[in-house]
Amino acid sequence: YRDLRVALLGCGSVGAQVARLILEHGDELAARAGARLSLAGIAVRNLDSPRDVELPQELFTVDAERLVQSADIVIELMGGIEPAKTLILQALRGGADVVTANKALIAAHGPELAEAAEQVGAQLSYEAAVAAAIPILRPLRESLAGDHITRVLGIVNGSTNYILDRMDRFGDSSEDAMRLASELGYLEADPTLDVEGYDAAQKATILASIAFHTEVPVDAVYREGISNITAAQIEAAKHAGYVIKLLAIAERLTSADGTDGVSARVYPALISRDHPLAVVYGGKNAVFVEAESAGELMFYGAGAGGAETASAVLGDLVSAARRHVVGGPGIPGSLHAGLPILPVTEVTTAY
Ligand code: NDP
Ligand code: HSE
Repeated sequence: YRDLRVALLGCGSVGAQVARLILEHGDELAARAGARLSLAGIAVRNLDSPRDVELPQELFTVDAERLVQSADIVIELMGGIEPAKTLILQALRGGADVVTANKALIAAHGPELAEAAEQVGAQLSYEAAVAAAIPILRPLRESLAGDHITRVLGIVNGSTNYILDRMDRFGDSSEDAMRLASELGYLEADPTLDVEGYDAAQKATILASIAFHTEVPVDAVYREGISNITAAQIEAAKHAGYVIKLLAIAERLTSADGTDGVSARVYPALISRDHPLAVVYGGKNAVFVEAESAGELMFYGAGAGGAETASAVLGDLVSAARRHVVGGPGIPGSLHAGLPILPVTEVTTAY
């Protein structure tokens, strides 16, 4: 096999699992990718931070920029906007393929990064950025490319779903539920992103942009988080036959003046206990897609967690490696002029 050098940026909840899988499953990955994926190094902030997985110390470096320069494929799992954005642009401009799980970055700068990739024929992929282990972006972009999607909705944040579920089914306080979510590696480095709905809004942006072939800015997504949801409200909802879930909804609409457009919103909704979304427990996510010809589709699985997210990252890694072996440009990811974004005028509490 040809050797491909893989640079890993970040070794936290997800990065440590990605490193483990690359090292443990080397032969299998080589057979599937048609190339040997050698882990060239792991860039971190602090060499002394404790790791979830025991990894060879000589792989670690604090010099991410240098590591990127010699890589064929860069996996970015640091999170945040900078230095992730600069490092990804450096990697793409140098001709490397990039895999990332960074929804904050893709939601804010996805079009710019996709364009940089296209200019050099490299591949930028981020399946893990939305709903972690669930394959949803590739089905939207590829399997449904010939259909006409009308709506994408669901539970796309694992930690808030876990917190609300613990409060609902186990009577936990929000503080206890949050601590457990943190121990499971579900929360963002800044948990405000989860509890205030920013993370779900970033995912709604990515889903809507791909589903509707248009650029949906994250600040166009109506957003409410779960920080104001009380135990008493959860109890009252339960007595009325409902469960409270943080929903993300992106849909194609016709406004009152006849304009076709896209609108997206994230908010805690009352879900009837007999709706399939009501039994999406713990850190699981579920995404419903409605398309003109395909009808209704449902995607379900782990929406957060180190190993679960690593599964999607590895899928993108194998796909990038195959492209290196076969040659040719990556799958185009840039967005072209599409539907206008319509403001959200009404948010109904019950779904
Ligand atoms: P963590 O906070 O657990 O890990 C981040 C890692 O990046 C750490 O190893 C840290 O180094 C390193 N890092 C951070 N900043 C820098 C920097 N400036 N230079 C070098 N290294 C840096 O994050 P997660 O693993 O949870 O998440 C990683 C990405 O995956 C994020 O974009 C997140 O949104 C996304 N994601 C996470 C999921 C999850 O369930 N956790 C699910 C889906 C996506 P050090 O260890 O030295 O501090
Ligand atoms: N913090 C995110 C969540 C991780 O809870 O869904 C997965 O994207």
